[in-house]
Amino acid sequence: MNIILLGPPGAGKGTQAAFITQLKKVPHISTGDIFRSNVKEGTALGKKVQGYMDQGLLVPDEVVVELIADRLTWPDVQKGFMLDGFPRSITQAKALEETLDAMGKKIDAVINIEVDFSILTERITGRRVCKNCGATTHIKYLDDKAENKCTECGGELYQRADDSEETVKKRLVEYEEKTHPLTEYYREKNVLINIDGQQDIKDVTHDIESALK
Ligand code: AP5
Ligand code: MG
Ligand code: ZN
Repeated sequence: MNIILLGPPGAGKGTQAAFITQLKKVPHISTGDIFRSNVKEGTALGKKVQGYMDQGLLVPDEVVVELIADRLTWPDVQKGFMLDGFPRSITQAKALEETLDAMGKKIDAVINIEVDFSILTERITGRRVCKNCGATTHIKYLDDKAENKCTECGGELYQRADDSEETVKKRLVEYEEKTHPLTEYYREKNVLINIDGQQDIKDVTHDIESALK
C-alpha cells in the first residue's frame, strides 16, 4: 500500500508512522528526518536546507522533489511506502504523481490527521526525541521529568532546533498557505481520509488502522 501522512506540524505524523509502518511492513519515509540527519552529518544537502528549517520555512520544492524521486528508486518501496511530511505543496504533489506514473504506481490513501491549531504549539514545544533510537515523546509522558531519558531505550532526549515557540508560529503559517490546499487536492482525487488527531495516541492509531483495512 502506498500511503501519504498529511497534517500540520505536531499533528502526530511521526508518532503514528512508527506504528503504522510496522503494521503494514512498509518503509517510513520522512523528509524532515532525512533532512535532519543530513544536517547532523554536515552533508551538502544538510548545508542547503538547514537555514530554511531553522527559520520554519519550507525547503524549496525542487530540492525535496529530487530527494523523493531518488528515494522512490530504492528496492524497499516495492512492497509499498509511507510518506511523512511529503508532499507539502501542490507543486510537490504533482511532481510525485509524475514520478509514480512513470513507475506504474499510485497513491492508495492520504491520511489527514486533523488537530486544532490551538493545541499544536504545546505539543511541539514539549516534544523530545531520543538521540539513540529516534523515538518521539512528550515531556507530559515522562514520569521523572528531570531525568530526560528515553522510555524505549534509556537514551538521552533532545529538543529539535525548530521546536521553539517562535519557529512553530512560522511553520504553522507555511502549513496554512502551502500545505493545507492539499486536503482539497486529494479529496477531489477520492483518496483523502480524515482522522481525528485529538484523541489518545492509541485511538488515533486504531482509527488509521481501520481506515486502511
Ligand atoms: P518535519 O520534520 O516534517 O516537521 P513537521 O511537519 O513540522 O511535523 P512535526 O515532525 O513537527 O510533527 P509530527 O506531525 O510528526 O508530530 P509528532 O508525531 O512528532 O519537517 C521539518 C522541516 O523540514 C520543515 O519545517 C521544512 O523546513 C522541512 N521539510 C520537511 N519536509 C518538507 C517538504 N516536503 N517540503 C519542504 N520542506 C520540508 O508529535 C508531536 C508531539 O505531540 C510529540 O511530542 C508527541 O509525543 C505528541 N503527540 C503525538 N500524538 C499525540 C496525541 N494523539 N495526543 C497527545 N500528544 C500527541
Ligand atoms: Mg514528524
Ligand atoms: Zn530511545
